[in-house]
Amino acid sequence: MVALENLSKTFNSKTSVVEAVKNVSLRVEQGEIHGIIGLSGAGKSTLVRCINLLERPTSGKVFLDGEEITAMSNRELRLTRRKIGMIFQQFNLFASRAVWRNIAYPLWRGGLTKKQMADRARELLALVDLSDKENVYPSQLSGGQKQRVAIARALANNPRLLLCDEATSALDPQTTSSILELLKKLNKRLGLTTIVITHEMHVVKEICDRASVMENGEIVESGEVFSLFANPQRRVTQDFIETASNFSKINSMIDENHVITRLRPGERILKFRYMEKSEAEALVSAVSRRFNIDVNVIFANLEWVGDAPLGGIISVVSGDSRNIDEALLYLRDKHVGVEVILDNTRVSETNYA
Ligand SMILES: Nc1ncnc2c1ncn2[C@@H]1O[C@H](COP(=O)(O)OP(=O)(O)O)[C@@H](O)[C@H]1O
Ligand SMILES: [Mg+2]
Repeated sequence: MVALENLSKTFNSKTSVVEAVKNVSLRVEQGEIHGIIGLSGAGKSTLVRCINLLERPTSGKVFLDGEEITAMSNRELRLTRRKIGMIFQQFNLFASRAVWRNIAYPLWRGGLTKKQMADRARELLALVDLSDKENVYPSQLSGGQKQRVAIARALANNPRLLLCDEATSALDPQTTSSILELLKKLNKRLGLTTIVITHEMHVVKEICDRASVMENGEIVESGEVFSLFANPQRRVTQDFIETASNFSKINSMIDENHVITRLRPGERILKFRYMEKSEAEALVSAVSRRFNIDVNVIFANLEWVGDAPLGGIISVVSGDSRNIDEALLYLRDKHVGVEVILDNTRVSETNYA
């Protein structure tokens, strides 16, 4: 559906040269929801603006449905842009136009009568669950309702692709969830291919099929959401995941000699991490029963991606040292990552990871 080939965008000013996007190649399949994550300034917005040529790439090619849009004439490009809708963090509605006129705006020069445009706006309002607001002005709407109007407007021309640049970043968590639900529904019902820029782990987890991580203008990691998050290769990806967990607290607890992390002889603090889609198993009770050890959970950060558990557990494990070693081998066999955080057994030379 979308293919980027060796795309670069450099901004030149009198005083500086910024390589905002560097040699990015990316494919997004028909019907996919693709997340683009990365720190502020990584180049996410520039990359996505290059897809509809709001920003002209310095070099490289953009294909939409197999057609190279970087090679199109202005006229062809105008028609092709109708296949791409876009929404933004700040909604970008016209404050002086009623809701239905905002939505009908992209239809304006398409040769429709006013009634036809109003009908289409009504249809779109129903689709985004905002039927009673057609004659209201944007200032009378909540943030979530404004974003629904912006989504309806983005869909006016029946696009095949929707670009979302931090579309939920200005919304509270509950409203964010309802907008994500709406995006998912549109994706399913209309087969709408969607690209979602976000700095929120939650957004990616909720709706994305695949995701790419950007750093300094480059895509450094890309893949199916589960494998990306279960087994992140890059520091920036790991940090992104950690923002959604409380695991980093364990180190300060150890430093502060917290009562929970003060180990008795034979105890270890271990981190277990699901690395692969495995059958959800009652991990803690299974190993404690099977190997006669105690597993005392300190932190658990488990999410469900589809039917597979993602995340992990930090716990104090105690019991016979050999039994613990066997339990760890068993877990490794089940593709659970094991990391020793603190060990009060002996100087351990075994590497379980
Ligand atoms: N129009 C522009 N002119 C000059 N520099 C820009 C322009 N747009 C973006 N940049 C720079 O390009 C880099 C990437 O910006 P951006 O794509 O907005 O990143 P992100 O969306 O990941 O925060 C930043 O260093 C930013 O300052
Ligand atoms: Mg941005």
